[in-house]
Amino acid sequence: MIVSFLNQKGGVGKTTLALNVAAERARRGRRVLVVDADPQGSALDWAAARDTPPLVTVIGLPRPTIHREVGELARGYDDVIIDGPPRVTDLARSAIAAADLVVVPVQPSPYDVWAADEVVKLIGEAAAFKGNQKSVFVINRRIAKTAIGRDVAAALAAYPLPLASTVIGQRVVYAEAAARGLAVFEIEENGPAAQEIGLLATELFG
Ligand SMILES: Nc1ncnc2c1ncn2[C@@H]1O[C@H](COP(=O)(O)OP(=O)(O)O)[C@@H](O)[C@H]1O
Ligand SMILES: [Mg+2]
Repeated sequence: MIVSFLNQKGGVGKTTLALNVAAERARRGRRVLVVDADPQGSALDWAAARDTPPLVTVIGLPRPTIHREVGELARGYDDVIIDGPPRVTDLARSAIAAADLVVVPVQPSPYDVWAADEVVKLIGEAAAFKGNQKSVFVINRRIAKTAIGRDVAAALAAYPLPLASTVIGQRVVYAEAAARGLAVFEIEENGPAAQEIGLLATELFG
């Protein structure tokens, strides 16, 4: 399956969720290719920061030709995960066109809900030629014991995309893992972050 993590808003957790879900799939024995479609190359930086053997292959492809090249690139892999770019619309369109499933991370703030408008529009445009494409919102960085998660879920209901039932919490281990090129389960094998990523991977991939 080809899954794109996308949202034109920066800092919502595209790279964090893409890499941790990719690593989780690898942990489950899948051969995983990560396509870094962000010109900033954060996923490539993550791979380079690691000092142990890689769990997944990361390649950089910040060009609007991903949808044309993905078939060839996917050969020899079970899953392809695309870490989407912020802003650049032609890259985002290509990352959508390449995907079977588009995952839209959103933070639990009204600004993020409004900003989702843009990516929802792009997904809607793609629907014309990607008839059976699926898409889903994932709430990222929920602060424990706040009601905002619920409010945001209600606000997101105005959009045609469903909301994943797995919610990702605000946890320091995500930033810690990122800095060392690790997945969260490599730091805390059965910690809360590893567990929620496991649930998200199952929800997305089955
Ligand atoms: N659930 C989380 N808990 C704590 N920090 C997070 C979480 N998700 C993302 N971050 C941090 O937020 C910043 C932006 O995340 P990133 O994945 O790079 O977003 P994007 O790829 O959408 O720009 C990074 O510093 C990352 O470590
Ligand atoms: Mg990113």
